[in-house]
Amino acid sequence: MPTLKDVVKPFVPRELWDKIPRSFDIIGSRSGAVAIIEIPPELEDYKVLIGEAIIKLNRNVRAVLRRVGAREGEFRLYKYEVLVPGPTEVIHKEDNYLIRVDPTKAYFSPRDQGDREDIARQVMPGEVVLYPFAGVGPYAIAILKRQPLTRLVIAIELNEYAYNYMLSNIKLNKLEGRILPLHGDAARLMDLFHNVDRVLLTLPLGAHRFLRQALTCVRKGGIVHFYHLGVEEDPFYEAEGIVKNYCGELGLDCIIINRRIVRDYAPHVYKVRLDIRVA
Ligand SMILES: C[S@@+](CC[C@H](N)C(=O)[O-])C[C@H]1O[C@@H](n2cnc3c(N)ncnc32)[C@H](O)[C@@H]1O
Repeated sequence: MPTLKDVVKPFVPRELWDKIPRSFDIIGSRSGAVAIIEIPPELEDYKVLIGEAIIKLNRNVRAVLRRVGAREGEFRLYKYEVLVPGPTEVIHKEDNYLIRVDPTKAYFSPRDQGDREDIARQVMPGEVVLYPFAGVGPYAIAILKRQPLTRLVIAIELNEYAYNYMLSNIKLNKLEGRILPLHGDAARLMDLFHNVDRVLLTLPLGAHRFLRQALTCVRKGGIVHFYHLGVEEDPFYEAEGIVKNYCGELGLDCIIINRRIVRDYAPHVYKVRLDIRVA
């Protein structure tokens, strides 16, 4: 099977061959997919050719988008340049569940699949899980598919598009009544819940602003999954400092039971996760 580089090379000057991207994200399934790629400025003149090559190599891909800049704003969305136009709403297949999403309107990353699996494996029968930055709902669905005896996942989301996709994903995966979807600001809605077994703070750029609330929502012995960004030299240093401060302020005995580098976030920066048991 030829790679993107193999297909594009004959049309690009030799001195630019090193710049041809080696990988791109595909969101979707056989019923249709969207490809998302980063292309360096040196390949500006070849961007459409690259987009068309992706379509040639992947028969399910109907649209190709170029990522421009970093994720932005409260809803954590990229800006995209359309390289090959086509439908961008897709149904993504991950493990044994489906996620309907339009990545131009709501956050979703197939690169978080391993982390979803890792979280879902930890959930015990009967748990109530609070999930304040739920996006289109993938962690809630992963948890309920892996641990069908989960009592409830309370899923809060601010972006109306993402919230509506979450409603659609609950139906698509036949999880009606197992997820309580709420549309609104987590800062306000989290306070309605106490004594939950687990809180999932999947907002690496900003979760620290909600950590105090999370620590007060969780029961004694419960778990908070705290996401943050960490630099290569000492990925957990800043996150651990934040946890120590809040737990100290609240007079809570917190134990970090697990540290995980989730994935790359930017050059020399990782998305990290601390699993905190509140004793
Ligand atoms: C990094 S994304 C993660 C989404 C989802 N958990 C996933 O993994 O696909 C964070 C989500 O939090 C939402 N969000 C940001 N601030 C929020 C707030 N104050 N209240 C509720 N949701 C918020 C964003 O719209 C975005 O969908």
